[in-house]
Amino acid sequence: MTINSHPSIIALDGPAASGKSTLGLRLADSLGYLFFDTGIMYRAITWIALQRQLDLRDESTVTELAQTAQIDIRPPSKKDGRACDVVIAEKDVTWEMRDGNVDANVSVVSAYAGVRQALSEQQRRIGLRGRVVMVGRDIGTVVLPEADIKIYLDASAEERAKRRYDEIIARGERSDYDEILRKVIERDHIDSTRAVAPLRPAEDAIIIDSDKMDADQVFDQVLALCK
Ligand code: CDP
Repeated sequence: MTINSHPSIIALDGPAASGKSTLGLRLADSLGYLFFDTGIMYRAITWIALQRQLDLRDESTVTELAQTAQIDIRPPSKKDGRACDVVIAEKDVTWEMRDGNVDANVSVVSAYAGVRQALSEQQRRIGLRGRVVMVGRDIGTVVLPEADIKIYLDASAEERAKRRYDEIIARGERSDYDEILRKVIERDHIDSTRAVAPLRPAEDAIIIDSDKMDADQVFDQVLALCK
């Protein structure tokens, strides 16, 4: 549904650390749309499961968690690069949700059909209201196939690992490039080979390879497409 000259539902998919969140947030800001990063939901379920020491190989337990978990998204309370606060049981888990332990386990959790069904139903309900930039792996293919514009943001694994490394260093934390690269490749492999809603561009997606582009250039190109 297009309610003005701009596309109302913008789907933004792509592999790990391809710059989707940075781009999506800027795009949403400049259009006055809601920014919705669906990765947060998969990360939050994984974080809770790890916290409760659930067996992540137990699909039915993890699925039940995804069906019942209360994840709160609030306006950012700190200016430390976050797009929002992610709060679980009154604890701010915004950055914990992005740590190595969650990175290493989130793709297992997100491959479960029941987890995907529970979370994508909520994503779809919110996305259909329109005026939204929704970011993920399967937004253009599964969650909102009727999106007005579908962008698939890609880059080489090396470039993506470098960006993720720089991001962590900029937050003042320690990081190891080789380790990040290995994990990015592993996560992409699981995400793109899973049976349900694998990572891939929709047939009608515009594919942008951002290897030789900086964040401003990617933003300008996508904004131009939206206009
Ligand atoms: O920020 P980054 O690109 O590293 O990851 P993310 O967008 O936060 O997503 C974390 C993980 O959640 C992905 O590796 C996928 O396994 C899963 N995910 C998914 O399966 N479907 C989505 N729509 C979004 C995330």
